Amino acid sequence: MVTVKDKSFRPFIEQIDIERRIAELGEQISKDYIGRQPLLVVVLNGAFLFAAELMKGINIPCEITFVRVSSYEKTASTGQVRSLLSLTESIENRDLIIVEDIVDTGLTMTELLGQLTARRPNSIEIATLLHKPEATRVPLKLRYVGFEIENKFVVGYGLDYDGLGRNLAGIYQLHV
Ligand code: IMP
Repeated sequence: MVTVKDKSFRPFIEQIDIERRIAELGEQISKDYIGRQPLLVVVLNGAFLFAAELMKGINIPCEITFVRVSSYEKTASTGQVRSLLSLTESIENRDLIIVEDIVDTGLTMTELLGQLTARRPNSIEIATLLHKPEATRVPLKLRYVGFEIENKFVVGYGLDYDGLGRNLAGIYQLHV
């Protein structure tokens, strides 16, 4: 059991299993994008560790850029997506892979997809380390999913509780 701020979390997914799964996603992406040069669009802050590990597992030419969006306050979604898209480069005709830590309600992803689509990329796919299918309220095609998990709050491996817990090497689930 670990304590993050004022809450207890129990071990949920070990680092070794996370990294093994991410390596598989990297291999899959390398196959799917052969002959192309995908641009990883990483959603900060939560996806930074996932993105780093994923990129190491991709063995074709690829690039990376970062955007920042946020809809979470403490442990519940506010339902309001504040989008702070800060892409400076052109993504026109690029093959984008959005790299996200977790798809929960799906509202963040839907908003981001809309904003990126408006900039006329050639294609957009989604890679998310975690997905909570029971919580997702909008239809989304998630091409690369690390783990489908139940609808409980998790921290670690980049995911935070109120800014803390991102440095945990494994993923931990809220203990209630
Ligand atoms: P959505 O818009 O509800 O899909 O929320 C997506 C964002 O909420 C993610 O990028 C995370 O930053 C955050 N989030 C959702 N669920 C969790 C969780 O269990 N732990 C930590 N952050 C979460």
